[in-house]
Formats: sequence, structure tokens, C-alpha cells
Amino acid sequence: MHKANIKLVKDMVVSTVDKRIFGSFIEHMGRAVYGGIYQPNHKSSDANGFREDVKELVKELGVTLVRYPGGNFLSGYNWEDGIGPRDQRPKRTDLAWRAIETNQVGIHEFAQWADEIGVDVNMAVNMGTRGIDEARKLVEYCNFEGGTYWSDKRIENGRKEPFSFKTWCIGNEMDGPWQIGHKTAEEYGRLATETAKAMKLVDESIELVVCGSSNSQMPTFGDWELTVLDHTYEYVDYLSLHQYYGNYANNLEEYLACSLDMDEFIKGVVAMCDAIKAKKHSKKQINLSFDEWNIWYHSNEQDKQIKPWFIAPPQLEDKYNFEDVLVLGTLLITLLKHSDRVKIACLAQLVNVIAPIFTEQDDNTSAAWRQTIFYPFMQAAKYGRGTVLTPLVQSDSYQTEQYEKVPYVETISVLSEDEKEVTIFAVNRSKEKLELTVDSLGLVMDLVIEATQMAGHDIKAENSVTDDSIKPEVVTNYRFEDNCLILDLAPLSWNVVRVALR
Ligand code: AHR
Repeated sequence: MHKANIKLVKDMVVSTVDKRIFGSFIEHMGRAVYGGIYQPNHKSSDANGFREDVKELVKELGVTLVRYPGGNFLSGYNWEDGIGPRDQRPKRTDLAWRAIETNQVGIHEFAQWADEIGVDVNMAVNMGTRGIDEARKLVEYCNFEGGTYWSDKRIENGRKEPFSFKTWCIGNEMDGPWQIGHKTAEEYGRLATETAKAMKLVDESIELVVCGSSNSQMPTFGDWELTVLDHTYEYVDYLSLHQYYGNYANNLEEYLACSLDMDEFIKGVVAMCDAIKAKKHSKKQINLSFDEWNIWYHSNEQDKQIKPWFIAPPQLEDKYNFEDVLVLGTLLITLLKHSDRVKIACLAQLVNVIAPIFTEQDDNTSAAWRQTIFYPFMQAAKYGRGTVLTPLVQSDSYQTEQYEKVPYVETISVLSEDEKEVTIFAVNRSKEKLELTVDSLGLVMDLVIEATQMAGHDIKAENSVTDDSIKPEVVTNYRFEDNCLILDLAPLSWNVVRVALR
């Protein structure tokens, strides 16, 4: 059996969690929109064609904000195609995903869907084929009260009150050569600055996210961030990070360690933000929007078979298994560990496309279902609210080819907003049991309200429309000893333990 211990100290905190850290992402691609959230001929659809069963699962998941409408799709998108009478909207080629976009869902429909669920929209402007002019018009269309050309068009199209979208992305992955309208850091930095200025002139209350690198392995990583921030620092509020992981070599030990990469990535980007702050003698702090993160690799081979120019092709339809639960848990913990700087994060994506929620293709009767990764996200979104306590952790560890020291336990604790309970999230990466001793200072642990675990499954086992067996189970694997709480974490397990405080 391995051992680890954590010390919870009331006054040693990372930060209050920004609820937007539990965001997600809907892109116009694959079956995310059409056949995902929107399926007019499905038995559970509402009058606007949106699936009620999917809405219910999004609510249950606890998502707080949804980034929209892309993604790579964004860089060729004309937002004007998705407004006005639906029967007059054009069908367009989506060059990013080589599919056909019908534009039956646009800003109005999506905003209404988001309103009904109670999530904020993180809107995005096209920096690929378009620029300053379209961006300022879009902000005017969405956020201006009325009495101008674009705001009156919104009213004409049925929405009197402004949408008042608060958070906006200035383009998507503009460093990537695959991106339509790909730019150098200099080109993008200048364009993003001028776009940001114009957007904030229309609505000074908005917050802007400027593109960081598409992932930390990009050859321009680092130079991109420094150059873009050098241009945009005083005009934007967040820098984006994107990263996807996968068990490419079918090496569990290595795969379970990938959150260490995320940790390094965040630390590096924070350092770059602060370097530019120092260079500019600025008082302002740029925070991070990790607005695409997830596991993405299961669907790589099947995607090669997909033919171009179809509506809603089944792209990026990863089916998640049990080992993905453990990895997703470690990634969630890592985001919480950095909640002092990561203020927005989006699990990419939400429905069907690399998603926790899944619907069956061409099926108008069966219900939407929860993939395995649904559960750790749901629990973190529910109990990861409040104040993150500094992780004072000691743990036995192991070594992999890539990492010298991988702690067997990945853990974080969050003190609830009312300070009546603390929730311990923990992943046991080991194939053996792990005894986790929780000691506390300034917090008096009273009793365990609930302990759940996900454990004991074949690591490759998946959920399906008919089998939802990979989910949290209530357990009693804890005891109090000498004022400490001892948790016996099962081998390869995701654990959530809620402790009442006195
Ligand atoms: O989420 C899928 C794709 O991944 C997005 O369109 C893009 O931004 C990223 O490369």
C-alpha cells in the first residue's frame, strides 16, 4: 500500500474559484449543434428544435459558461448568416471541418438555449477571414441597447434586450497553420489590439480573451505569447491556453501523469504574462482562459473515414473509458490548483464532439447519455466552489520516461463558500491501495458528509446509451484517528470526500 498525506490550513489559500472555470464549449462542427443540442425531429425537442434531454444533462453537469461558435469553424464564419428568418439563411461550406453549415442555429437560438439552461455565453469573433469591422458590428448587434443599425437589427430579429455577452474571444488558435487566415504573432498581435480597442469602444464592460498558443508543443510556443502580449497587454483581460491529451502509446502510467504537463504549461504561461507585465511596468494582471482542454484521441482513426461536405458528420466522437475518468480528474485538480490565475476554463466540448454528453446518430427516440468523464466534471463543478486551499501534499511517487517524479496521489481541497464543509478531490494513480492522511489546522473536521469513488472498473470500460455503470459510488473507506481523517483510496480511483467542519 502507498501512503500520502495532506495538510489543510484554513488561512493558506490559492484563491476563490471563479465559477467560469467550469465552462464548456459548443462549436458548429460534427454533431455538436445539429444532432446534438438541436434536433427538431427528436421526440424530446422543444418548440425551437432543442433537445430537452440534452438540456437536462447540461444542467446536471453543472456547466457555467459555454464558448461559442468555435473553434476552427470560427475563422471562416460569417455571423450574419445565422440571424434573421431561418428559411432565408444560407447554406455555407465550413472550410475548417469540410462540412456543410445550414445556419439553422445562430446567435439568437444559441443565446436562448443558454438562457434556458442558465449558462453564460463566451462569444467569439472571427480573426481568420474577418477583422475589426465585423467584430465591432457583432458587439453592437449583441450588446448595444438599441437605436443603431445593428442593435435595431437585433430587435427586428426578435430580441429587444441586448444579449449582454460579457466574455469574448478574439479569434481562435491563430498561431496554427491549419487555421483559416493563420497569422504570425506580429500580425495577430496588431490585429487583436485594434480589434480589442474597437470592441471595448462599443461596450467597455466586456472582457476579452486573446489567443495564446494552440498547445504547448507548437514550435512558436513562448515567442507567440510574448509577442502577442507585448502588443495587446493593456487592451485584453485573459490569454488563452488549449491542450488535449491522449493515451497514444497505451501506457497507463505515462497517461496518468499528463496533468504534470498541464501544470508546467500553466506555470510557463503565467510566467510569460508576468514578464510582460514587469516589462511594461503595468499594474494590470492578465489571467488565463484555458478555453479548450480535454482528452482527444479515441476518434482519430475513425475520423479519417469521414467524407467531406455533409451536414453534421460524426466527427471527433471519442468514446471515453475508465482510465479517462482518472486523467480528467487529475486535469480538473490541476485547474483548481491554479485557480489564482485560471479564471475561465472550457471542457472541449460539450455534446457528441469530444464530449461528456452523447446522443445516438440518426435516432429520434433514444435518450442522451453520460459518458464516463461526465462524472468527475459534474462533481468538481458542484463541490469545487469556494476557496481552494493550498495543496500541502506529500506522496509516494513513481517515475516514467517523461517524468522523474509522479506523485501517486493528485489532490486538492476546496472550502465551501459558507465555510461549513471542505471537499477533498483525489485521484489515486497507483494500482495499489493508497492511504491518504488528512490533517488540518484551523479547520476542525467533524464528520464525513459523503464519500464517493469511481474505482474497480476495467480501465478500458465505457458507458453507453444502455449502460451507465461507470459512475460514482458511495463508500465508507474512511476513519478518524488522532484528529486526522484517514482515507483508504482504492487502486486507480477518483474520489470526492465531503467533510463537515465544526
Ligand atoms: O475542439 C476541437 C478543435 O480543437 C477546435 O476547433 C480547435 O480550436 C482545436 O484545435
